[in-house]
Amino acid sequence: MPQSRVKPLIAGNWKMNGVRSNMRELKRIAEACKKAPKPRGDVLICPPFQVLWPYKEAVKGSPVRLGGQDCHTSVSGAHTGDVSAEMLADIGATAIIVGHSERRTDHGETNVLVRAKAEAVHAAGLIAIICLGETEKERDAGQTIRVISKQLKESVPNGSTAKNTVIAYEPVWAIGTGRTPTSDDIKKAHKALRTRLEKRFGPDGAKFRLLYGGSVKPGNAEEILALDNVNGALVGGASLKSSDFVPIIRAAK
Ligand code: 13P
Repeated sequence: MPQSRVKPLIAGNWKMNGVRSNMRELKRIAEACKKAPKPRGDVLICPPFQVLWPYKEAVKGSPVRLGGQDCHTSVSGAHTGDVSAEMLADIGATAIIVGHSERRTDHGETNVLVRAKAEAVHAAGLIAIICLGETEKERDAGQTIRVISKQLKESVPNGSTAKNTVIAYEPVWAIGTGRTPTSDDIKKAHKALRTRLEKRFGPDGAKFRLLYGGSVKPGNAEEILALDNVNGALVGGASLKSSDFVPIIRAAK
C-alpha cells in the first residue's frame, strides 16, 4: 500500500496539563481546523480525563476528536482512582493512549499490562495508541531496534487492526528534551516496526499508522512528517498552545 493512502494522525498528549480555563486554547485549535485548508490528517487531543466532558463542547462542529491518556484493564469495579476505557468512551473519547513511557516509568507498566490495556480499549470500541521507545542507554548500546521490536511484539494484542490500533514510536530520551533522532534513525525505527507489523498482520500491517513522538515542534514537523513510514505525530509540549500545534497539524501533507 503506498504511504499516501495512510491518512495521517496528529495527536496532542496534554499529559497532566488541562483545567477548564485551557479550553480557550482548545477552541483556537478547533476553530483553526474548521478553516481552509482543512487538515489533511485526523486531529486528536488527549487532555486529562476530568476535562473531557467540558472540552467536548469546545470541539463540537470541528474535526478535532478527544481521547484519553490511560485506562484500567477492567470495565468497572473496585479500583480506586482508576478510569476505564468504557468510561472514557461514555464521555466522548475516540482513542486512548496506552503504554506511554511516563506510565511505564512512573507506574512500572510492563508490556503485558500495556497489552491488556490495549485489549480493554478495543473492547470499548476505541482506538488504542500504543507507545514504545528506547531509553538513551539502550540507544547508546545500539539496542533501539531490538528494544522496540520486543515492545511491539509484547504490547500489541493479536486482535489489533489498522483501524483500532496506532503505534507511536517515542524515544524516551527525546521526550520533552528538545532533542530528536536524526531523520535516518527515525526512518530506520519506523521501517523496522512496519516490517514486523506486516509480518504479523499481513497486508493490514501496511496500513497501521506509525506516529513519531518526542520534541516535535513547528520547526521540525514538516521534515519528520515527510519521512517514509511516518504517518503522523504524537505531540506533548507543543500541543498545549494553538500557535505551536496548528502549524504542526498543517505540516501533515
Ligand atoms: P514532547 O513533545 O513534549 O517531547 O512529548 C512527547 C510525548 O511524550 C507525547 O506523548
